[in-house]
Amino acid sequence: MKTELSRTLGIEHAIFGFTPFPAVAAALTRAGGFGVLGAVRYTAPEDLARDLDWMQEHTDGLPYGLDVVMPAKKVEGVTEAEVEAMIPEGHRAFVRATLAKHGVPELAEGEASGWRITGWMEQVARNQLDVAFDYPIKLLANALGSPPPDVVARAHDHGVLVAALAGSARHARHHAEAGIDIVVAQGYEAGGHTGEIASMVLTPEVVDAVSPLPVLAAGGIGSGEQIAAGLALGAQGVWLGSIWLTTTEADLHSRALTAKLLAAGSGDTVRSRALTGKPARQLRTEWTDAWDDPAGPGTLPMPLQGLLVAEAVSRIQKYEIDPLLGTPVGQIVGRMNEERGVQQVVDELTRGFEKAVDRINRIAGRSDA
Ligand SMILES: Cc1cc2nc3c(=O)[nH]c(=O)nc-3n(C[C@H](O)[C@H](O)[C@H](O)COP(=O)(O)O)c2cc1C
Repeated sequence: MKTELSRTLGIEHAIFGFTPFPAVAAALTRAGGFGVLGAVRYTAPEDLARDLDWMQEHTDGLPYGLDVVMPAKKVEGVTEAEVEAMIPEGHRAFVRATLAKHGVPELAEGEASGWRITGWMEQVARNQLDVAFDYPIKLLANALGSPPPDVVARAHDHGVLVAALAGSARHARHHAEAGIDIVVAQGYEAGGHTGEIASMVLTPEVVDAVSPLPVLAAGGIGSGEQIAAGLALGAQGVWLGSIWLTTTEADLHSRALTAKLLAAGSGDTVRSRALTGKPARQLRTEWTDAWDDPAGPGTLPMPLQGLLVAEAVSRIQKYEIDPLLGTPVGQIVGRMNEERGVQQVVDELTRGFEKAVDRINRIAGRSDA
């Protein structure tokens, strides 16, 4: 599975994987794909350095990348406490009532909640970059919009390619104008923040919009046949996020959550603002239902919603409160039915890709196979 982009990066398979787990990213890189470590949770630069050290030791000199979150709308010049103060009391009461209804225990004294607003601040992403450029990363990806021009220039000075996610051809054109090297066309089916256009429609639109820039197809890809479809639509590779969540290398910290993912069908996700205030596809739970219920107070804009629910989400995860327990994940969750190692996933993807290519060749009358 070789494309111009995979040759440029020196990888065997044009399979890119976003993951918050270093062990998954390293395993994908070792399996011949391209692991991209999500950095949003590293609010302390030394934690990122520790995990990049680990990545260095476990990737056999093969290439990998880093994904940061630099929101187009900056949250600068205000403290976390000032942002906290903007949250209406009615919303706080709603969180308390929803947790109480399900008997969710408190965190222990002094126990921090997982998600902090700081992870979404440009300065934090910049601190992450100060660390990252000391490592031989080959790709820098940005989730929300084009990175600022000086960041693009700095990446290029270090010989690092810059990728950015796009949910529409308009976003993609903006990235191209900002000097981005690779556009990830992420369809509606995808886990995490996502737009309203399905991959089947989006991928060729983005390919046309930014040609000759390379495009990676993302959203709803979990089999080799789907990879073949993405490449047939003009992509130079694929970018997968959800599929890695149920790999043996992933560390979800909750067997109950893994079990839920393995059992979920493709109709069990919802695009909801419940987690961050922006539409993000995730498992549908009683928690997302509560936020999406017109009888409730509704969600707050980013970054307030994330700050409002951070502690609640930590409590739900820690105590594995099944009806409320969720995670960002895409519609491909319906095909994530058994735990597999990353190498096995890649083997199955490449086998499925070859089968699909043979099938199309037969249909096109190009092969007797
Ligand atoms: C649990 C989870 C967390 C995600 N967090 C990020 C993120 O921090 N940054 C980012 O660029 N994309 C993030 N994404 C989106 C992925 O990069 C990718 O585009 C998406 O998962 C592809 O669609 P798929 O889920 O159908 O494979 C996340 C996806 C998942 C499933």
